[in-house]
Amino acid sequence: TRTFAVIPAAGIGARMSAALPKQYLPFAGAPLLVRTLSRLLRVGWIERCYVVLAPDDRYWDTLVTPHLAQLPPAFAVAERLRVVRLGGTTRAHSVRAGLRVAHAEGFGDDDWALVHDAARPCLTTETIEHLHGSVGNSNVGGLIAIPATDTVKVATPHTSPNSFPVVERTVPRERIWLAQTPQLFRLAVLRQALDRFPDATDEASAVERLGLQPILVKGHWSNLKVTLPGDLELAQAIWSLQED
Ligand code: CTP
Ligand code: MG
Repeated sequence: TRTFAVIPAAGIGARMSAALPKQYLPFAGAPLLVRTLSRLLRVGWIERCYVVLAPDDRYWDTLVTPHLAQLPPAFAVAERLRVVRLGGTTRAHSVRAGLRVAHAEGFGDDDWALVHDAARPCLTTETIEHLHGSVGNSNVGGLIAIPATDTVKVATPHTSPNSFPVVERTVPRERIWLAQTPQLFRLAVLRQALDRFPDATDEASAVERLGLQPILVKGHWSNLKVTLPGDLELAQAIWSLQED
């Protein structure tokens, strides 16, 4: 079977409250999205990378295109990178658009779709290989996740913005995992899941709602998602300690 990647990059980054969508913010001298794409393109067995943009995206051509020419020839960008300007209002819609194009370009039902957030630039080759190696024989798929290390509290509902939230209870953390990306699923399974559950906030939760059980593959917190102001600096510090 073959593997392709889908990189949803059609969000607006509301929680980041920056002047640009976070995937385009400067990150170690290039747009964040270039850094994330490089981490996927350097893995040779990922045949294609479908980056999904908003239909009205105004940044790719001016900010990203100039950097693509500077990527190593071994990345074979012209052959392997596809820009899909069909992102939707939810992440699931955006991923679904990438799957559709991959299918139209010849990927089959049993081929593997590796979905990775544009906003996680510190992804390592080891993590990608670990996920692929762990999930390889499954007929469903799985995801990178982190076993919870902090004690987990559940807040009471309906907290008003004028008061502090209060604890309803503490959940035993032994079975709590925090989901990251990449997430790796068979194309047909993922397409069906996202069609039925377009409000899912990750691929795995849509697949779970089909009644299937994704495999949990242990990752590392350094693969953080740039979400809030301050995360960019933290991610750059991590990135600078990694080899690129
Ligand atoms: N994403 C997408 N299409 C959407 C929403 C999100 O492609 N309709 C992508 C984002 O660009 C990001 C990834 O999904 O790479 C993870 O989403 P998130 O971190 O929530 O990014 P945003 O939705 O952009 O941020 P926010 O929720 O703060 O607005
Ligand atoms: Mg979002």
